[in-house]
Amino acid sequence: MRWRVQHQADDVQVALRALSALLACGAAPGEVLWSGGAGGEAQADLLEALAPAPTIAPPEEAPPLHALRRLPAGFISLAEAVLMHADPQRFQRLHAYALDVAAEPQRWQDALDPRRLALEGLAREVRREIHKMHAFVRFRPLQDAVDDNAADSVQYVAWFEPEHHIVRAAVPLFERRFASMRWAILTPRLCAHWNGSDGLRFSPGVDRSKAPPPDAGEALWLDYYRSIFNPARLKVSAMLREMPRRYWPNLPEASTITGLIQSAPERSARMQQAVAAPLRRMPTAQPATPSRSPQSAAERLADLGRRARHCSDCTLAAHATQMVWGQGPVGAPLMIVGEQPDDQEDLAGRPFVGPAGQLLREALAELGWPVERLYLTNAVKHFRFEPRGKRRIHKTPGQREALACQQWLEAEVRLVAPQALLALGATAAASLLGRPVSVQDSLGQWWPRADGLPVWVVHHPAAVLRHAESGAPTYGDWVQALRPAMQPPLHLKEPAG
Ligand code: URA
Repeated sequence: MRWRVQHQADDVQVALRALSALLACGAAPGEVLWSGGAGGEAQADLLEALAPAPTIAPPEEAPPLHALRRLPAGFISLAEAVLMHADPQRFQRLHAYALDVAAEPQRWQDALDPRRLALEGLAREVRREIHKMHAFVRFRPLQDAVDDNAADSVQYVAWFEPEHHIVRAAVPLFERRFASMRWAILTPRLCAHWNGSDGLRFSPGVDRSKAPPPDAGEALWLDYYRSIFNPARLKVSAMLREMPRRYWPNLPEASTITGLIQSAPERSARMQQAVAAPLRRMPTAQPATPSRSPQSAAERLADLGRRARHCSDCTLAAHATQMVWGQGPVGAPLMIVGEQPDDQEDLAGRPFVGPAGQLLREALAELGWPVERLYLTNAVKHFRFEPRGKRRIHKTPGQREALACQQWLEAEVRLVAPQALLALGATAAASLLGRPVSVQDSLGQWWPRADGLPVWVVHHPAAVLRHAESGAPTYGDWVQALRPAMQPPLHLKEPAG
């Protein structure tokens, strides 16, 4: 053995420079002993790390990668991926192939060269694992930081066990995606830490016991996972290919998979039944007539809500936690229609429970309107949002989503049979009136629908919460704007029974 390369197994750049220096020295693969240390901050100085050779001095004046750059374009990116592989023979194989290509550059064109094929295979496995790390890292908040109750100081920690040396190559995605969070990804060989202001730092690997235990947020994640699991699309072999069992120990949702697979045939049969009896769109021009028996209307309303759960007429259902149906009694004098469930409604499955909903409930109480005797619903039944880090930012539903949901809203109007409708914001007003509506231009008067039902339009409570920037009324003015919605004299009947 004439050469010894002391490199960092988790730092491909050191190994690349070593390979380049070995090519420049004319070293043969059999003359080199590669010994990789653990990862971490320290980086071996490559050229000094080539142990003294009796006759050939390392070309210290040669710039790093000088010899590798003489090889065909594309070699370095293949080498970078191969050097991340856990195969202990990767250095010798790469070194031998580099020598072949240096001697006969046309070999690089031979895509069937067995040495090349073997190296491409290693590179593919590495790229696949980087992709898996991006998909399967799950952050958990550190408990003591959570108890601090200072959202900014919460640190999120994830545990991941890669087979290959991919941490440095995989973390840039997390840097971009979670730029405003403090996080760490712990692995057995190398840990990455991100702290916004201080940037990225690496430290030696740790034991699994350093990773935080499951947290309360995980229950929400599991609910979400259950709700997006589509039994009708289940293909177990494809699922195992995408989500190999070796990643399961670190995936909270893995604990639900077996149960979901077992119940899939029954759930998918139920879905097929629901699809076999599709809901006919209600013509908007049809007059709203109270159902003959409130009991049967209530049952039909509940049944409709169950069917709406499986609606996939727009893409929102695929991302939301669940469909949020209206709430309130059949025969309520006033139906209050919002835009769409927000983050908290999406998690709770009930309308108007988040901050905007609380404001509405406060106003109703102030006006003396018992909320339990009114019917509260939304024009769009699924939460539309944009993921930003761990947060889901509300996005106004588009015309397509509002149109797709109109059938459900109109069915609610028919079955609840209110005497008047209150639209909160432009989306609700447009859905109820069947045309684009400017809230500002529609305030202060009743607007008749084709079926004769009167619609009262006010600003959405979320706009009132942001009134300083949105130009919406103050809370006091908004409550006054709501008041006429219970006249023409609407009667708040005592609930039946
Ligand atoms: N905003 C709405 O429009 N509806 C809800 O249910 C909650 C917030």
